[in-house]
Amino acid sequence: MLDKLAFSGVRFSYGDQPILQHFDLRVKQGEFISLIGPSGIGKSTLFQLIAGLLQPQAGAILVDGSPVENRLGMVGYMPQRDALLPWRTVVENAALPLEIKGVPKKEARETVRSQLPRYGLAEWAEAYPGQLSGGMRQRVSFLRALLSGTDIMLLDEPFSALDGITRMEMQEWLMAMWQETGSTMLMITHDIDEAILLADRVIVLTGRPIEQPVELKVDMERPRTTASRNRAQFQALREQVWGLLRQNVVTLPRQEAAARTAGGDA
Ligand SMILES: Nc1ncnc2c1ncn2[C@@H]1O[C@H](COP(=O)(O)OP(=O)(O)OP(=O)(O)O)[C@@H](O)[C@H]1O
Ligand SMILES: [Mg+2]
Repeated sequence: MLDKLAFSGVRFSYGDQPILQHFDLRVKQGEFISLIGPSGIGKSTLFQLIAGLLQPQAGAILVDGSPVENRLGMVGYMPQRDALLPWRTVVENAALPLEIKGVPKKEARETVRSQLPRYGLAEWAEAYPGQLSGGMRQRVSFLRALLSGTDIMLLDEPFSALDGITRMEMQEWLMAMWQETGSTMLMITHDIDEAILLADRVIVLTGRPIEQPVELKVDMERPRTTASRNRAQFQALREQVWGLLRQNVVTLPRQEAAARTAGGDA
């Protein structure tokens, strides 16, 4: 089957700070991928490349096998900091991508209204972001991303600001949404359990620049619940991911120190 999304030999730097080098990644249609890696390694940058907000300096990013430049309408992007506009209501915020695509305002808002009950937001249509709880804001942000494109959903640490209980609820909610929409989903997280629980594959990003990521397959039946964390298989994966990350946390400062003593200031 054709890959939904593929990075092929991608190189990307900010000025003289390399982020990706010879980077390859393949994601199948309908797959759920978790990306985990140390802070500042370039995870959000990877998403901005997929969304088409940044362009690679070498290599290609293919959607359905072609290097589509205008990915508007194909990629739904939920950025790391929820970017709800404080002066727009829930409905007005969520309708934004449809309005950008040229859907008449009234129709766009009707579409959003019809979706709100599934997000537990029916009563909050006319509320402003400042009046919502963290979990509600995340759900509005998710709905907005979904309305900008369902082919590929990019979720950048979607639950990091939530308390533990809300976070577990949202994880189960997201698993259900994923099965319902059939979207290809990529999620960045710093939480090892979250990465494993939701994903078909966990991609561990290491190195600076990021070169070949380590991929771990999560072969556990679905539907999964938070109780799946107690399985022996889950615990083995957790150890594996932590092993890779710990190694990386230890080696990162050394690489940086070596670069500095070598005279490279970057
Ligand atoms: N627009 C930019 N211009 C220059 N450098 C940038 C820019 N955006 C990010 N960087 C740098 O690139 C590196 C990767 O940033 P990025 O935000 O992708 O990391 P991340 O893995 O998402 O980190 P975190 O887990 O903390 O969110 C960092 O060193 C960051 O300072
Ligand atoms: Mg980030």
